[in-house]
Amino acid sequence: MLIQWAQAPAANSVLAVIAGETDTFSPAAKKLGEDALKASLKLYNFTGTAGKNQLVPAPEGVAHPAVVVAGGGNLTTLEGLRLESLAGSLYHAVKTSGFDHLSLDLTGFTAAQAATARYALTLASYRFDKYFGPAKQDKAPALKTVTIVTDNPSAAEAAFAPLKAVADGVILARNLVSEPPNVLYPQAYADLIRGYENLGLKVEILGEEELKSLGFNALIGVGQGSERETKLVVMQWNGADDPHAQPVALVGKGVTFDTGGISIKSAEGMEDMKWDMGGSATVVGTLVALAGRKAKVNAVGVVGLVENMPDGNAQRPGDVVKALSGTTIEVINTDAEGRLVLADALWYTQERFKPQFMIDLATLTGAMIIALGMDYAGVFSNNDELSEKLIEAAKGENENLWRMPLPTQYEKQIDSKIADIRNIGGRPAGSITAALFLQRFVNNVPWVHLDIAPTAWTNEQRIPTVPEGGTGFGVRTLNALIRDHYEA
Ligand code: BES
Ligand code: MN
Ligand code: ZN
Repeated sequence: MLIQWAQAPAANSVLAVIAGETDTFSPAAKKLGEDALKASLKLYNFTGTAGKNQLVPAPEGVAHPAVVVAGGGNLTTLEGLRLESLAGSLYHAVKTSGFDHLSLDLTGFTAAQAATARYALTLASYRFDKYFGPAKQDKAPALKTVTIVTDNPSAAEAAFAPLKAVADGVILARNLVSEPPNVLYPQAYADLIRGYENLGLKVEILGEEELKSLGFNALIGVGQGSERETKLVVMQWNGADDPHAQPVALVGKGVTFDTGGISIKSAEGMEDMKWDMGGSATVVGTLVALAGRKAKVNAVGVVGLVENMPDGNAQRPGDVVKALSGTTIEVINTDAEGRLVLADALWYTQERFKPQFMIDLATLTGAMIIALGMDYAGVFSNNDELSEKLIEAAKGENENLWRMPLPTQYEKQIDSKIADIRNIGGRPAGSITAALFLQRFVNNVPWVHLDIAPTAWTNEQRIPTVPEGGTGFGVRTLNALIRDHYEA
């Protein structure tokens, strides 16, 4: 969808104006005639509640086919998530109304408010439609253009620049998650990441031979049954004034398809496992956001890209692998592969970059969905300060996080009879034992593990700015964490 700034509403477009609680009206609403508007809104029982929209006939003499009144709640504090929800729900209310052009009149509001509205419209109008043929493309929403009316378009554009970078990162992450697994396999994924060097990102791709010689045996084992070559991609954004400033590090699980391997999953719903690279997508999206807005931070993103397939050469249940850290792992279940990928990626990241903190993201366990449902991702951490900052950042970004415990007494569930640890801990506390497994590959660095199995994908739109499909969950929160606490 095309979104543009202007100083006046476009001719023939549907005009959107804002009304708040207790009969308050935006300047553009007042211009339509406050009394007439009040009277017609009363007929619809519209009270200016945030996120509600009401289509009303255009008042006499108004050169628009229709007017939409968007509810804004308390108009003196219309910002942040409430403004996002207004703009996002306005989009959904109008998209299939048959009109192809909407003008959202924000006359009298600030450039920052105009920018937030554009950000929300960008995220809300996202669609993954590249594989639709012409017949299905025709069923796309009629709404094709939104004009945002603002007093100072160039100030709005300047305020929007950093938000645009974040939206680009979120949308990239959504696209990656939604791509089918025959298209997005490790090599293709790595090549795609390489394409972001033009933003100033440094990209290194390690192939199987190199990974083998370095000792990434836990990662390599996961891809052993796949025809596709396993890759580890390292991205660096060096935006801090001091080029030697300690970086922040993000690590992602990038299983481009998870059949379960020899411990094969059942057929029902297996196609969902194309989004088992959601953690890596968030890492890539965040690095792209940071580079796009030239964040004053040094940041590292490391993603393990691998396909988990059954095959004559696949890893067996019972195999013992020696991870990069030297820890030996008894692979009891080849479907508990994400932790094997992260074991090596975490260790490598911590040893090579000595980061200020390390946050990993992974669609790691189905048990996380059982524990939290689809609206929360789980936070596991060895550091209260970092996890609290992260949870706080998430609140401002409409991404729900919930802290989970890491009780040492559950460690015995992942003890092995013949190796240092085993890769599953049984049914009880499945997400926690997975996190405890990861913790074995983390030394003294402040660390958070985000289990985003619940939130990486959504089959229904839950909030107006996150349409169904890949969500890009985590990009906004990680960007906000870094922006608020780690930029010079
Ligand atoms: N990728 C899955 C976890 C998952 C399941 C993510 C559903 C999103 C939706 C992971 O690799 C996996 O298979 N985990 C197993 C672990 C078990 C074998 C200990 C699981 O959750 O069943
Ligand atoms: Mn699995
Ligand atoms: Zn998996």
